[in-house]
Amino acid sequence: MDLDHSSWMWDGVYTHLFGGIMLTAALLGLSTSYFGAIHVPSLPFFLPDLGMFHQKKSGKKRIRVYMDGCFDLMHYGHANALRQAKALGDELVVGVVSDEEIIANKGPPVLSMEERLALVSGLKWVDEVIANAPYAITEEFMHRLFNEHKIDYIIHGDDPCLLPDGTDAYALAKKAGRYKQIKRTEGVSSTDIVGRILESSKDMKVLEGQEGSSPHGEPDEKSHAKGGHISHFLPTSRRIVQFSNGSKGPGPNARVVYIDGAFDLFHAGHVEILKNARQLGDFLLVGIHSDQIVSEQRGTHYPLMHLHERSLSVLACRYVDEVVIGAPWEVTRDMVCLLA
Ligand code: CTP
Repeated sequence: MDLDHSSWMWDGVYTHLFGGIMLTAALLGLSTSYFGAIHVPSLPFFLPDLGMFHQKKSGKKRIRVYMDGCFDLMHYGHANALRQAKALGDELVVGVVSDEEIIANKGPPVLSMEERLALVSGLKWVDEVIANAPYAITEEFMHRLFNEHKIDYIIHGDDPCLLPDGTDAYALAKKAGRYKQIKRTEGVSSTDIVGRILESSKDMKVLEGQEGSSPHGEPDEKSHAKGGHISHFLPTSRRIVQFSNGSKGPGPNARVVYIDGAFDLFHAGHVEILKNARQLGDFLLVGIHSDQIVSEQRGTHYPLMHLHERSLSVLACRYVDEVVIGAPWEVTRDMVCLLA
């Protein structure tokens, strides 16, 4: 982002920054309706896009790998699983387990199939998505994967995945010698996130019950600690590098679009808005507000996911080129110069 040698470029960026501020307001609106009706574009809006990110490696046979999952309340642990799966082949096909199968095997999911599909399709490592996949790899589905989808390997995390009768959901794939494993990411799970949501709503009720206090009051260290939504995630520079798009910055004439927000509990509405923002220019820079800013703006019980967790979720999105980890609330001229 070469801003200082030409004023036209400053103007260009400023215009897009202004667009970014407008989008921030939309983002805040979306986040508050997280458990309400989120407008998720119909699937054809998402799925055909996947091909344009497809990188062709000429020559040798391309290895196609399959990973399935519920991907409920999708988090950076899921994204990291898919990142690792993609590294085991050339093309990653993801099966998103149907609502019925999740209900039968784990209990009802929080997000709908459409939302879960939108989230998975928005990840930069995903090439194809199969909706309504079965929870277990059955004989019939395994052959469909091999013959119809040309899958070479079926992949799952190194945690046991047992069916209600105690058998291994991947037993047939293992027997066929077509199973590979990736390392599960410690410190996050959908259950843990549901726990954080419940803790946070408990905090909110306590705050509302306190005389003269409002849920959007000043951040209070004690209430954060009381809330118990403490993350066990240890951010490392290696993980950030793994999720990043390398050191490639915007080209000399690139139109850089800036959008900022909390991006707490990354959801289908975030994918949609990031896609729209990216379409306004050539390079999308996303500012992730610090935990303190989110607390100040939304209340002490937020954010549910801390800064580094939120940054990884945003970085995993295919429409994002770069993130500012801990962006300020206000977009100033000085800040744009610093980013240049
Ligand atoms: N996964 C992972 N690390 C996590 C959570 C999930 O590597 N922290 C992997 C799983 O091993 C699986 C894939 O992500 O291969 C999809 O997981 P999913 O079916 O959505 O559910 P869970 O394994 O139950 O994970 P969670 O409880 O977080 O939903």
